[in-house]
Formats: sequence, C-alpha cells, structure tokens
Amino acid sequence: MNPEKTRIKEVPLLDVRNLETAFDIDGTDYNAVDDVSFQVKPRQIVGIVGESGCGKSVMSLSIMQLLPKGIGKVKSGQIVFDGINLEKMSESQINKLRGNDVSMIFQEPMTSLNPVFTIGYQLQEVFFNHTIISRRNARLRSIALLKSVGISRPEKIVDEYPHQLSGGMRQRVMIAIAIACQPKLLIADEPTTALDVTVQAQILELLKGIQEVNDMSIILITHDLGVVAEMCDEVIVMYAGKIVERTDVDRLFHNPKHPYTTLLLGAIPKMDEQEDRLNSIQGIVPSLINMPQVGCRFANRCPKAMPECTTITPLLENVEQGHEVACLLFDTSKPKEEMR
Ligand SMILES: Nc1ncnc2c1ncn2[C@@H]1O[C@H](COP(=O)(O)OP(=O)(O)O)[C@@H](O)[C@H]1O
Ligand SMILES: [Mg+2]
Repeated sequence: MNPEKTRIKEVPLLDVRNLETAFDIDGTDYNAVDDVSFQVKPRQIVGIVGESGCGKSVMSLSIMQLLPKGIGKVKSGQIVFDGINLEKMSESQINKLRGNDVSMIFQEPMTSLNPVFTIGYQLQEVFFNHTIISRRNARLRSIALLKSVGISRPEKIVDEYPHQLSGGMRQRVMIAIAIACQPKLLIADEPTTALDVTVQAQILELLKGIQEVNDMSIILITHDLGVVAEMCDEVIVMYAGKIVERTDVDRLFHNPKHPYTTLLLGAIPKMDEQEDRLNSIQGIVPSLINMPQVGCRFANRCPKAMPECTTITPLLENVEQGHEVACLLFDTSKPKEEMR
C-alpha cells in the first residue's frame, strides 16, 4: 500500500470531542448528547446503534449544525471536520460544507424534498451548485444517478414531483441527492428503515460501492445490527445520550462487553422475522428530564447491575487497545477479584 495513503488514513476526517448537546425544556437545559467523543477516519464506515431516543439523530444534527434554532444547542465540546473546528466557521462556510463535503440522509424523506420542484430539478440543483456542467449533462447524470439508486424508469421519474413517488422511492431520491456531489462524509440516519428488505440490501450495497469508489466515510445510524455487521468497520453503541461501547465490528459481535450491547445482540431479529425485536429489552430509555444524574443510566434495566452502579458513574475507558467500554464490570481501576 502507498505509505502516504496509510499516513493520511491515521488523521481523522471527523473528530468529535466531549460533545454536549442540550435542549431547552421549560427554561432548563437537558443534555440529549452527553460528553460524546469519537473519530471517523477517511474511508471508514462507523455504525451508531442504540434504541430509539438514545441521541443518535441529535448527534448527527449537531455535526451538521442543523439543530432546531433556539431549542437545541451544542453546549460544549468540539466538532472538528478535516482539521477545521466547525464552531469557528461562519454560517456561509457551514452552508458550503454541508452538501459539498458532508451530507446527510435524514430519517424522514418526505419532509426533505421540496414538493414544488421536480425530482430532476432538485438533483440538477446539486450539480449546478457544485460543478460546471451543461443542463443536458446534468439531466443525464441525474437519470443515471436515479437508476443507480434502484429507481426504475428514471427518464420518467426525473420529471415527476415528490408526491407522485412512493415513500421508498423518495428515500432513494434523497440518497441520490446526498451522494451527488461526492461528499467526504455521509451521515446516513436510518437510511433504509422505510424500505423493504430487498431494496434495503441494494441501497446498502450501493452506498458501500460509492464509499469505496469515492473514498467516502460514512456514519451509519441504524437499529439493525445485521446492517452493522454487513457494512461497518467500527461500531459505537449509544445509550441515553452516552457512548457505552466502541470497538471494531468483529470484536463487537464476537466479544461484546457492555450488558446493553449483549442485550442488543440478543435482540437481532432472525432472517424470517420482520418485527423490531430491539423493543424486547425490558424497560425504556429514560427521557431527558428523567435522566439519572449519577450512576450508570442503564442500571435500572441491566441484568448485571451491582449496588454501586446507581452511585458511581462509569467512564468510557479502554478495556483493551481499541475497545472502549463504560461499565463498572470492566472498571480497570478496581482490583481484579472485585470484577465479575
Ligand atoms: N426538538 C427536541 N426537543 C426536545 N427534546 C428532543 C428534541 N429532539 C430530540 N429530543 C430528545 O432527545 C433525545 C434523543 O433523541 P434522538 O436523537 O432523536 O434519538 P434517536 O435518534 O437515537 O432515536 C430523546 O430523549 C428525544 O426525546
Ligand atoms: Mg433518530
């Protein structure tokens, strides 16, 4: 391998440091993302998993600087993209970065497309904004892009309006728009949840293909651990606004440490089951206003909880090189015989 390329790979494309994102609820700040740090290297696919309400989308919106104004804010921490601290960027620099270097596929495709413009118009806009291209070529590229995301009869669809498409097709259009300008980082928030299994596999294969060709990094948010196994290099497990485990995909599946991860893995649906079995973990994720202030936030649902789990807050620590866990069961500061 080219040694220069190896060296470049070590520098993170995205470096999130001690991120805290809060929502103002009746005049009080509540952290939806609480002291989260992680990196995404060039070409890496990092999966983020966790039940609904764990802060995955809020974290993505924080990175994209798209939090609802006046309600949500990055309270502390840093988001460094390609060596530049996003906080130091002007609104226009952020706008340029969004869509060009970083783009995102949202969970709800219906609200992300403009209902008054054709699909083709919205796709071509991306090309016109970022490249010098003739109208005819932009149209041809739009059609090719639509075809590549699994849309049949793209020559017809290109002239249709979002309301004429099914939800699944709209999501495919969103993916086409997001990858049109070949971003360095794509944040895909549950990108295939609305699609049927066959289409889902095609879309994921497509994303992986584009990632390889374009040297793109992906943050893939999903509640489907099968997707993680298929797609990701690294996995971050989030619970109640915090990272509870982070490691490479092999270790996560073969040697999960955090009891929450173990339960998530146990909840993987079998191939013939469509239902979302993540809900099969007893209890619910605490809401922002009910978040425990000390101790482990998972303690009240954890089958391995010890008395100290409600009084000592576990820190995310390396239990071995490249495997971070926030759980007192793996607290390296404790003498070995005390560990279970
Ligand atoms: N606009 C908002 N106002 C108040 N609370 C919010 C808002 N958006 C999200 N939250 C809360 O932040 C937490 C994390 O939400 P979210 O990031 O959407 O979870 P996930 O994407 O993991 O399902 C949840 O408790 C959710 O209720
Ligand atoms: Mg979400």
